[in-house]
Parts: sequence; structure tokens; C-alpha cells
Amino acid sequence: MSKPVIVCVDDEPAVLDSLRRELSEVFEESYELETAVGGVEAVELVKDLVQDQCNVAVIIADYLMPDLKGDEVLRQVNELSPKTLTVMLTGQAGVDGITNAINTAQLYRYIAKPWQPADLQLTVREALNSYIQEQQLYEYQHQLEQKVQARTRELTQTLQELQETQTELIRSEKMAALGQLVAGVAHEINTPVGNALLAASVLQNETQAFDELYKQGSLKRSTLSGYLETAADSSRLVLSNLDRAAQLIQSFKQVAVDQTSFEKRPFTIIPYINSVLTSLEPHLKATKHQTTVDGDISLKMVSYPGALSQIVTNLVINSTRHAYGPGEQGHLSFSLHQQEEQVILEYADDGCGISESHQAKIFEPFFTTARERGGSGLGLHIVHNIVTQNLRGTIRCESTLGSGSKFILNLPLQITDEGTHASV
Ligand SMILES: Nc1ncnc2c1ncn2[C@@H]1O[C@H](COP(=O)(O)OP(=O)(O)OP(=O)(O)O)[C@@H](O)[C@H]1O
Ligand SMILES: [Mg+2]
Repeated sequence: MSKPVIVCVDDEPAVLDSLRRELSEVFEESYELETAVGGVEAVELVKDLVQDQCNVAVIIADYLMPDLKGDEVLRQVNELSPKTLTVMLTGQAGVDGITNAINTAQLYRYIAKPWQPADLQLTVREALNSYIQEQQLYEYQHQLEQKVQARTRELTQTLQELQETQTELIRSEKMAALGQLVAGVAHEINTPVGNALLAASVLQNETQAFDELYKQGSLKRSTLSGYLETAADSSRLVLSNLDRAAQLIQSFKQVAVDQTSFEKRPFTIIPYINSVLTSLEPHLKATKHQTTVDGDISLKMVSYPGALSQIVTNLVINSTRHAYGPGEQGHLSFSLHQQEEQVILEYADDGCGISESHQAKIFEPFFTTARERGGSGLGLHIVHNIVTQNLRGTIRCESTLGSGSKFILNLPLQITDEGTHASV
């Protein structure tokens, strides 16, 4: 970059000469010296310099000039290059000229004519120092701004990555829940389908035997009525068991669809929680815990049932994993009631409870007391996210060691705004 410039302005060439001489002595090495005869030429010169991207550090202008007065020259220069420090030479300048220059051109100093070279040099040196400091400050600020911008960009990116990770976590948790559901379906449907199969094979054997007797012509009336009775029993068994299997498939299908899509729809809360509990039955059967759901059976929500199903699943499984010792029989209870536009859903177990220090951390990601048993510590963190982000509600935990844990959820009955968080 070219050297910064000092501009001297006077209508008398002799004055300009002595200014140039005295200033060159001290500043020639580090600064360019430019002169202009008269105000108009000075303004043009500064315009050109600014256009060429030169730094005009200081301008020293005489006050009394025929074309443009010094205060006006400095005002225009201040407009063109606001960082330039302005100095006025005041031979005959009245107070007005100086005041004007102070007000409109931010006059840095004035020097009375005739001046002492040492005074001039000192004034210009101070002006240059001040200019350099200002310049450094500007650069420092500029660098700082750039650093802030770069850091903001980094933070934004990190935030985006975190959000993606969170979405991924919720997705994999959903897949895990779905896996559990599939296991539940297989287990639950096994019984009615097995029963139907047994009844159908009994019917098949009886029919075969009946057929043989018929072909031999040794069919008795009592055999016929016995066969008819068996056929009626078997087909009743086949029908009722297949009906039970169809019902199970229907309720699993709904829970599974809800879990994969997180679609918003109206649903009746208690029957929905019951169908989620049914899907957990294989898991619960192994533990002998009792589950109850109390409250207004007709209470409806327009919300994300899949999200609710994940919450219920996580809370129940946590109780079975963390709250009871082997063989202990617990009571896991849901109760709900409406409060204005919200449903208050309370879930409680009567297990070991959670200590106060742990309560402060249970919603944090990766907090688990069961790492060695395969716990990842994400369950309640995800529950918290689903409650606050998908269902726009709140969740808190109340627990005393030894007397069980209670999770209290406040959920809006109706989620009105479309789109947001509809699917994760
Ligand atoms: N009903 C409960 N009774 C006692 N402690 C509980 C209960 N629910 C949660 N906790 C405690 O909170 C911790 C965090 O629960 P969270 O569901 O987030 O993780 P996790 O169950 O350990 O692992 P993950 O759910 O990821 O498999 C548990 O490790 C346990 O110490
Ligand atoms: Mg858990």
C-alpha cells in the first residue's frame, strides 16, 4: 500500500514551499507530501486521492483563500475522507472561521500564522499519531468483527450438527421402540393363532376319521352327533382366536404407524395408552407388575399419538428396569385430568425412587445408572425433547427415595400450528 499522505493548502506558493520544506524534514520517509494552491484544487486533489484509495492522514489548510475559505475546504474534505485530521492555519481567521471548522470539519488543531517550524512539526506529529491510533483501532475492530463472524458461523454449524444428531437419536430410538413393538406383536399374536391352529387340526383329524367311517358304511348316529359337536366347537374356537388376532394386529398397526410417522390426528387418550400398554405386555408379563390407567375415558387430544406412545413406552420400561428388584411386584399407574386447554398426565411407580442429586440429571443426555446393563441414558432425554418439542408441553419428576417416582406432564390438548416438528 502507498504511504499515507499529508496535504498542505494555501493560495500563496511561498507559504506552501515553506510548509513542504519544514514537513519534509521530519516526515518525508514515512509520508507523501502533496500541496494544492487554493481551496478548489485542494478538494479535487483529496477527491483523486480517495478515489485512488490513498490514506489522507492530515490536511493543513490556510483559512483566508480567494476561491474557497479554509473552513469550507476542511468541511468538504471531512465529508470525502472522515478519518483525515484537519488543521487550519489562521492568519486572520476570526473566531467564526475556527468555530465553523470545529463544528463542520471536526477541526483537530489550528496554528496561528506566522508559526514556528517546531510548533508545526509537533502539531502534525500529534495529528499523525492520533491518525495511526485511529487506524489501528479500526483494523482491530475489523479483525474482531471478522473473528466474531467466523465464530458465529462455526457455532451455527455446530448447532446444526447437534440438531441433526438429535434428530438421528430420536429416529434410532423410534426404530428401537418399533423393534420392541414387533417382538410384542409376534409374542401376543402367537397365542390366538396357536389356539386357532390347534382347533383347526382337531377338526381336520375328526373329519378324516368321520370320512373313513362314512366310506366303510359303519357310521352311527352317535358318531355323527359327536362329530357335529366337535366341528361346532372347533370352528367357534378358530373364529374367536382369529378374531382376537385381528384385533391385536389392528391395535399394533395403529401404534406402529403412529410411531413411524408422528402424524397429528385426533385420538382418545386412555384407550390409546391402553393399546400401547398391550404392546408392552410381553415385556410386562415377565415382571408381574400391575398397570392401571385412570381418568376421563372420553378425553381427546389432537396431537401426535406416536409421540405419546414413545413417552409411555420409555416411562414404563424405565420403571421395570430401574425401580424394582427381581421378583418384586409393582404398581405402575397413569392418571389424567383436564385442566383448561391442557391434559395433566401423571405417571407413577411405587419402586425405589430417584435420589435428589440424580433427579437433577435424569433428563440430561447420557445420564444413566445402568450403563453396565446396557443403558445409554438417552431415554428420558428423548422423552423430554418429545414432550417439549413435539407436544409443546412440560415434564417434571417428583420422587423420594424409597417411595417411588412420579412424572408429571402438562400437554396441550390441541396442537394448532401445522407443520413444525410434525415428523422427526
Ligand atoms: N422409574 C424410575 N425409577 C428409578 N430410577 C429411574 C426411573 N426412571 C429413570 N430412572 C433413573 O434415570 C436414569 C436415566 O434414565 P434414562 O431413561 O434416561 O436412561 P436409561 O434408562 O439408564 O438408559 P436408556 O433409556 O437410554 O436405555 C436411569 O439410569 C435411572 O437411574
Ligand atoms: Mg431408559
